[in-house]
Amino acid sequence: MDSIFSTRTALVIGGSGGIGKAISLALAREGAHIIVHGGSSQERLDQTLQDIQNIQRAAGITTADQCHRALLKPLKGPESVTELLEQVPKTDILVISFGPFLRKPLTQLEANDWDYMTKMNLAFPGALVSAYLDQMLSQQWGRILLFGGTNTESIRGFLTTTAYAAAKTGLGVLAKSVARIGGAVNVTCNVICPGMIDTEYLTEQDRSYAREKAPGGTLITSETIANMAVEILKQPHLNGALIPIDNGLVI
Ligand SMILES: NC(=O)c1ccc[n+]([C@@H]2O[C@H](COP(=O)([O-])OP(=O)(O)OC[C@H]3O[C@@H](n4cnc5c(N)ncnc54)[C@H](OP(=O)(O)O)[C@@H]3O)[C@@H](O)[C@H]2O)c1
Repeated sequence: MDSIFSTRTALVIGGSGGIGKAISLALAREGAHIIVHGGSSQERLDQTLQDIQNIQRAAGITTADQCHRALLKPLKGPESVTELLEQVPKTDILVISFGPFLRKPLTQLEANDWDYMTKMNLAFPGALVSAYLDQMLSQQWGRILLFGGTNTESIRGFLTTTAYAAAKTGLGVLAKSVARIGGAVNVTCNVICPGMIDTEYLTEQDRSYAREKAPGGTLITSETIANMAVEILKQPHLNGALIPIDNGLVI
């Protein structure tokens, strides 16, 4: 297969569900060797691995290492990085498509809300990027893709998602910092800021709220985000960018 990913390994954190699963499958179509990290659902993880194998078998794709891997463990924050690194010492592509959401008015946010949101949505991605960056720089090839929140591509105020959005906005500094070092050696780091995305995690109530907010009442599919993600990962000169894929939504 003639793809820049066919000799590459991709670690997809949150790769067993939602946007991350769509990215795992899209990278499998490109012939990458996939390591999927799931949270707590063994069933979702097994299904994802099966789907990856089916895609590659049907396409006759032979990856450098046919044995795709799966890890299942709820992440706790930056302290999970050491264990993750023991299990996956090296990756060419790092996608972090997991980040818990919290809706609560600013005046009601408690210390542990701030602690949890910043640990999971900023400190964990930051620590994981730091951990893998050196080897990407040394091999002069690496791709990192992070996920911001809706409208976190610029600094603005949020009434009910302040802690989440503040942490997600911080990912922009991380991506731009990687770009300053990585740009010279084909290592990129970008952030997608999605709008209202239709995933299997939405309840009917969530879905109707999202439809009310989404321009034209239409949610964006995970596959749309995944296709864009693959295009972003292919580009050597798109670096440190904060990319809204939200159909013009302002929340
Ligand atoms: N969906 C949207 O509309 C939207 C909008 C803006 C931004 N985003 C951002 O886009 C990214 C992806 O969002 P998403 O909606 O696809 O869902 P998500 O809930 O952030 O990610 C789902 C994935 O994360 C795993 N996971 C859940 N809890 C975990 C934990 N404690 N430790 C490790 N893995 C865990 C899930 O595995 P299990 O199923 O096994 O738990 C699944 O693989 C996130 O960063 C999110 O903040 C999403």
